[in-house]
Amino acid sequence: MLAQEIIRAKRDGRALDEAQIQNFVRGLVDGSWSEGQVAALGMAVFLRGMGRDEAVLLTRAMMNSGRVMRWPDMPGPVLDKHSSGGVGDKVSLMLAPMVAACGGYVPMIAGRGLGHTGGTVDKLEAIPGYSTAPDPALFDRIVRNLGCAIIGQTGDLAPADKRFYATRDVTATVESVPLITASILSKKLAAGLEGLAMDIKCGSGAFCDTPQMAQDLAESIVAVGSGAGLKIRALITDMNEVLGFDAGNALEIRETLRYLKGEQREPRLHEVTLALCAEMLVLGGLAADTAAARVKLQASLDSGAAAEKFSAMVAALGGPADLLERPDAYLAQAPVVRAVPALQAGRLTAMNTRDIGLAVVELGGGRRVAADKIDMGVGFSEFRHLGDELAAGEPIAVVHAASEDAAARAIAAIQQACTISQGAWSAQPIVMGTVG
Ligand code: URA
Repeated sequence: MLAQEIIRAKRDGRALDEAQIQNFVRGLVDGSWSEGQVAALGMAVFLRGMGRDEAVLLTRAMMNSGRVMRWPDMPGPVLDKHSSGGVGDKVSLMLAPMVAACGGYVPMIAGRGLGHTGGTVDKLEAIPGYSTAPDPALFDRIVRNLGCAIIGQTGDLAPADKRFYATRDVTATVESVPLITASILSKKLAAGLEGLAMDIKCGSGAFCDTPQMAQDLAESIVAVGSGAGLKIRALITDMNEVLGFDAGNALEIRETLRYLKGEQREPRLHEVTLALCAEMLVLGGLAADTAAARVKLQASLDSGAAAEKFSAMVAALGGPADLLERPDAYLAQAPVVRAVPALQAGRLTAMNTRDIGLAVVELGGGRRVAADKIDMGVGFSEFRHLGDELAAGEPIAVVHAASEDAAARAIAAIQQACTISQGAWSAQPIVMGTVG
């Protein structure tokens, strides 16, 4: 079977069969498909689409392209959450210990920053000593003993996705519903989960910038995931503004610690976190309904149990045992800290959240090319939210930068990305819809 014939079939809008999809996935892993051929098929799928059956075949083939984890004899349900990517989205960091504190087991294989979006693995690497690539036996032991561990994607888990994703990233073929579906689910199914809560981000800071695309992606992921035997539910959540107060790696770890300790919980961030955690507890049979789940989750925060789980996870993976108590002793701080003044008085009515994510990358908090080293201390804190009234000169956010020049560029970028006007504005619910 020739690769070019498979590409031709998709180019002409025909559905691929199992043998063709398996040939492609094998070619991704053994290198028998060239970069040009992988890119061409990606673009053909992007333009022509894929039916549900093809998406299921692609998901399954990519999942089986490497190791598939098993969790025999676990005392509770094995659960996870995945977000399609946003700005300031640190939900995984609080969610894993909260669900673990309520009896779930969360073996979370998280991603790195991608494009304008931040990545959980990069954020965790802001913690000195924290290993995001532990030995598989240690990962297994920590999940069993503590209930959660968050690490990075290992080379042997869905390797076909790893190669295909890297090519899609540089060929403008990320935003395809069947390709995102297969990419996310192949990794999650390979992690051996029972239940998955999906957070489909929608808005100016998300890959799905329209509610229709978010709905299509949610339906596709739920259909393909349940077809593969996964208990799954998707929430569509708003990403038209920075989630929480901070965006940037060490800054988001600081916000996570404040959240877990109860010092500061930004209401929209708290709502998304509780909503996703509640879905996980219900999927895992740990709560009868989401209302009961929320009571348990709030108790895990109030008692300090979730904070303790986070602390124990950090220590078990090589980080400092007293991070919660002494964050300043460990987390990087940028040398230049400047307010971003509002250029006029009025209401904050819109944010180009993608541009804010790109401003974090510009500051050095993300990568332009895969080999870039991240500056952990940079980013933004104290971000104001849509609907807030601002006086002229009042800070919209605070920039943390490596130099005065970088700070000045970031200030201009945020002023440009934020719309302050006198116009009407109405609050949008943070959870825009549910599927599954
Ligand atoms: N996240 C993934 O893991 N894959 C995609 O294709 C998009 C977001």
